[in-house]
Amino acid sequence: MELITTHINADFDSLASMIAASKLYPGAIMAFPGSWGDSLRRFMASPFYCWKVAKPQEVDLNQVTHLILVDTKKASRLGPFSQLIASNPALKIDVYDHHPLQPDDLKGEIEEVRPVGATVTILTRLINERAIPLAANEATVMIMGICEDTGFFSFPTTTPEDLEAAAYLLRCGADLNLASHFLKEELTLEQFEFLNDLLRSSERYCIKGTEMVIAILYKEKYMSELGTVVQRFMDMLKIDIIFALVKIGNHSSLIARSRFKGVDVGAVAGTFGGGGHPSAASATIRGMSLLEAREKLLSLLSEELSTTEEEVATPTFSAMGEIITRNPTLPTSQNLTSLMREQLPAELFAVIETISQTADGVPINAFLVGGFVRDLLLRIENVDLDVVVEGDGIQFAKTLAQKVEGSHKGFPQFHTAVVMFPQGFKVDIASARTEFYEVPAALPVVQEGSLRADLYRRDFTFNALAVRLNKPHFGELIDYFGGRRDLDEGIIRVLHNLSFIEDPTRLLRAIRFQQRFQFRMEENTRKLMREAVEKGILNLLSGTRLMNELRLIFEEEHPAVAIQTMAEFDILKFIYPHITYNQTMGRILDNVEKVISWYNLLYREPKPKLWLIYLMGLFEELSTSDREDGAERLNLPPKERQTLKAYPGEITTLINKLTKKREVKPSQIYSVLHRCRLEVLLYTMARAEQEAVKKAISLYLRHLSQVRLNISGDDLLKLGCSPGPLFNKILKKILLAKLDGQVSTPEEELEMAKKLIKS
Ligand code: CTP
Repeated sequence: MELITTHINADFDSLASMIAASKLYPGAIMAFPGSWGDSLRRFMASPFYCWKVAKPQEVDLNQVTHLILVDTKKASRLGPFSQLIASNPALKIDVYDHHPLQPDDLKGEIEEVRPVGATVTILTRLINERAIPLAANEATVMIMGICEDTGFFSFPTTTPEDLEAAAYLLRCGADLNLASHFLKEELTLEQFEFLNDLLRSSERYCIKGTEMVIAILYKEKYMSELGTVVQRFMDMLKIDIIFALVKIGNHSSLIARSRFKGVDVGAVAGTFGGGGHPSAASATIRGMSLLEAREKLLSLLSEELSTTEEEVATPTFSAMGEIITRNPTLPTSQNLTSLMREQLPAELFAVIETISQTADGVPINAFLVGGFVRDLLLRIENVDLDVVVEGDGIQFAKTLAQKVEGSHKGFPQFHTAVVMFPQGFKVDIASARTEFYEVPAALPVVQEGSLRADLYRRDFTFNALAVRLNKPHFGELIDYFGGRRDLDEGIIRVLHNLSFIEDPTRLLRAIRFQQRFQFRMEENTRKLMREAVEKGILNLLSGTRLMNELRLIFEEEHPAVAIQTMAEFDILKFIYPHITYNQTMGRILDNVEKVISWYNLLYREPKPKLWLIYLMGLFEELSTSDREDGAERLNLPPKERQTLKAYPGEITTLINKLTKKREVKPSQIYSVLHRCRLEVLLYTMARAEQEAVKKAISLYLRHLSQVRLNISGDDLLKLGCSPGPLFNKILKKILLAKLDGQVSTPEEELEMAKKLIKS
C-alpha cells in the first residue's frame, strides 16, 4: 500500500502537497500523522473541502510498503508513522520537500528537494511537466499552500518557481479569493491578547549593528497558531528579525522569523533541536528556562553575525517609528517659555524653573510631558506637572525634594516618583529607560536616555509632546509624532496600530478627550477602535479599571455626549451586556447634565457622586438582578450596589407620594425626601416628567434640607425631658412645624417643645 503523509501539526502547504502528490500516486491513501492547525481545521470543515485524509489510527501500518513524504523528511516529525521506518527496512520512501537539508534527514529513492517557498511548488511543476490534468478545486488548495508559505508572495523565501507554479494553478482555475478567505483569517481574541503580550514583552536588541526583537512570554492557556501571530506582529511593526520565547504550561518553545539574509533562523532553531527555513523556524526548548534560552540565543547571534562598522550595540527605534508615526516630524525648535510665563501661575513657573536648575545641577536631561504640555498649548489650566528624566527618576526626585525642602516618594517597580513641594504642588517624575544587550552573555545594560521611546509608548499624538527643561534649550517643544499639528487641527490619533490592544482604557480615553476638546477621531483611529471593540478587548479590563475610566468620563462636563459616542462604538455592552441606548436614555442623560449644572450653582457640600447618577441612567431599563450583576462587574462598594439595586423602586414610591395630593406641604416633602441619597434625588429630578416632583426636589435641595432648629437637645434636658427616642421625636415635630412656617423664632420653638413634653 502507498501512503502519502506529511509532518505533525500540518499546515496548508502540507495538505496541498499531499493532494498534489495523490495526483502523482493515484492509488495512494493520504493520512495526517498527527494534529493540524486551526486555519486548516476551519477549511476542512467548509463545504469546499472534499478529500479523504485518514487519521493515523485508521492506517494499517503492516500494509504500508511505500511511503511518500511531503513537506518534511524528518522521522521525528512523522508521529506514529515513524515506526514504519524503524520496523520495515524494505520500506520504499520518496521525499518531496523544500526544507534545507540536514544530516538527520531521511533519504528517499526519489528526492525532490529544492529551496522554494512551498513544497507544493515542487509538486506543481512535476504535475505540469507530466501534463496531469488538475480540477479547479485541486488547483485552489494547491495555490493556498503556496500563498501560506510565501505570505502571499511577500516572504524573502519566495522564488520565481513559486510564482510560475501559482500562475499555472491560476490557469487551471484556482480561486485566489478562496485562498485569501481561508488564509487571511481575522485574529481571535486570544490571538489579540497574545499580540498584546508580545508588544509588552518585546525588547529590541542591536547586536553588531543588526536590530532584532526578542520577546519572552509566559502563558497559561494553550493557543494554536502562535507562528501566525508572531508573523502578524512582525508585519505590523515592520520588524526584520524576531525571536519569541513562549512558555505555555510546561511547554517552552522558540518561534523565529527573519527577513534579513544575514540571520538564518532555521540554523538558530536547529541548535535548540528544532528546524525550519532561514526565514521561519521553531524549536521546543528543553532543559533550560526562557531566560537561559535568551542568553543562549544572544551569544549564538553574536557569533553568527559578522561585525559591522557599528560595533557597539545601540538601541534604535526607527523601525517601530516608521509605521507607528503617522506624521513623522522632526523635533521642532519652537520655544514655549513665554507661553508658560504668560499662562501659568507665577508659583508654578517658579517650580518648573527649580526643576530645570536641579536637572542641570545633576546633570540629567529632564522634560515636561503629557497632559500638561497639551493643556499648555490649548491654554487650558493644568497644574499637574509630569516630568520625564533620562536616567534615574527616583534619585532625581530625592535630589529635587532636598533642594526645595519638600517630600518625595519613590515607586521602584515602576521607576517613578512623586515630589511634593512645600507650596502644595505635586510633580510626578518618571524615568525614560530602554534596555539593550551590550555584550553577549552579560546582563542587559540599562540604557537610560530615550525620551522618544518613552513618548512613543503613549496613547495619542497630542499626549506625546514634551518640553525640554535643560538650559540652554529650556522651553523647547519636542514633537516627534506630529502632536502639535493634531492639536491645532483637533484630531485624536493613536501613535501606533496596537495602541488600543496595548491598553484598552485608551478606547474610553479617546471618547473622553473627544467630548472634552470637541476633537474628532482620525479615520484609522476610529477603525482601530472598532476592531478593538469587535475583538471584545474591553472585556480584558477589570471592573475597577473600567469603572475608573467611566468615573473620569462621568466627571467631565458633557458625559451625555460621551455616552452617546460609547453607544455608537458599541462599548456600553462592556459595562453590562443588556444596556441598550435609546432616545429616552439620551434625553434623561441630557437632563442629568442640566440638573448637575443647576445643583453645582448651589455650591453645596458634599458633592454628589456623579458617576452613580450616570450609572442610574445607564441601568434604568435593566432588571433588578441585572443591575446587581452590573454593579458587581464594576466592583462597586456595597453602599452603591445597594443604591443601584433599589433606586427604581425608591423613585416610584417617591413620585407617588409627591403627586398623590394637589397640595403637598413642605413638611411632607421633607419627610418623603430626607432619607433619599442626594444622587437619587438629582436623578429623579432629571427623569421625572411631573413638574410637581421637580419642584418639590428643587425646594428640598435649595431650602428645606438646609433648615435647622434654633433649639437643641440641651434645651430639652433643661426642660426636664430625659434622653431617649422621645427626644428625637419632639425635635423632628418642631422641625416639621418650622418647615411649614408654624414656628420660626427660638422662643416659639421652645414653647412648642414645652407643650409636646407636657402632652
Ligand atoms: N497615558 C497613556 N495611556 C494611558 C494613560 C496615560 O499613554 N492609558 C499617558 C499620556 O501621555 C498622558 C499621560 O500618560 O498624557 C498622563 O496620563 P493622565 O494623567 O491619565 O492623563 P492626562 O493626559 O494628563 O489627561 P487628564 O487631563 O484627563 O488628566
